[in-house]
Amino acid sequence: MKPAAQPKPAPQPPTAYGAGAMDYQDYLKVPDLLALQRPQSQPAHHDEMLFIVIHQAFELWFKLVLHEIDMAIRHMQADDVGHAHHSMKRVVRVMRLFVPQIHLLETMRPIDFLAFRDHLKPASGFQSVQFREIEFAAGLKEPAYFRFFEGRPELKARLEARLGAPDLGVAFCGLARRQGLALPATLDSQRLRTDEPTWHAVAKAFVPLYAKPTSNLGLYELAETMLEFDEAFALWRQHHVSVVERIIGNKIGTGGSSGVAYLRTTTGKRCFPYLWDVRTQLELAGETTGSADHG
Ligand code: HEM
Repeated sequence: MKPAAQPKPAPQPPTAYGAGAMDYQDYLKVPDLLALQRPQSQPAHHDEMLFIVIHQAFELWFKLVLHEIDMAIRHMQADDVGHAHHSMKRVVRVMRLFVPQIHLLETMRPIDFLAFRDHLKPASGFQSVQFREIEFAAGLKEPAYFRFFEGRPELKARLEARLGAPDLGVAFCGLARRQGLALPATLDSQRLRTDEPTWHAVAKAFVPLYAKPTSNLGLYELAETMLEFDEAFALWRQHHVSVVERIIGNKIGTGGSSGVAYLRTTTGKRCFPYLWDVRTQLELAGETTGSADHG
């Protein structure tokens, strides 16, 4: 005879608040987080909440991106290709969120933005230290941007620290050299990005890897994820300027720049120009008709 089915144990009630155990609110500091959205318009304009939440969400993602980039740099310095790739893949996934997120602002009508825009002047995206830190950590080190932090020495100090610290480009090229690519022993991040002969020479050193990815697949995959990072960054710039144009046209920015005209000058910025240039230099060897990587 079959034994009688045991009754299922009754579901346990959730731990009561105040019972001393960690709870969701405490762990995530939800009350603190939800107290941080403070519209400046009086009475608060409905759309200012959207504007604040989107910017704050970006700042949280920027925090995570910096956290992961710093980890990726450490892995590169330790010659750990696999873990560097793991960190960079997460960075790219996060940055891919930036494009749909910025377009959320298009649900705000130009006239609604004008209703509270004066309240945020002269605050501006120019003052996002985390955005500038991401640029610096990726090798886009432009000290000209320090001036936006003159009144905030603690923020300026963060950027100054990034200026002197190893960045993704230098760490990655160092790793690639130790993996056997014919790269110079010392590479200055500024020259790597802005000096064309330098980046052409670096691209040339990457050509054998791109001609035969299986010669070092781990390094090849990491290089492609670095390029994806650069692409995601550039896409964010393009989508941001397009949203800005849709909302404020050619008005001057709250930070005092020419607005869209200034932002358009930034869309061509590349963190790793040599990884783009390697495509230009790449040629199919011999008479191969299929993938150059076969065999
Ligand atoms: C209504 C939406 C937005 C408008 C109209 C707008 C407008 C502008 C303008 C005109 C500038 C040029 C600097 C200036 O003169 O102020 C700028 C820069 C910037 N904005 Fe936005 N923005 C918007 C949303 C956002 C969002 C959601 C973010 C996310 C953090 C953001 C981040 C930045 C950053 C980081 C810069 C500096 C870019 C650089 O110098 O390369 N913006 N924005």
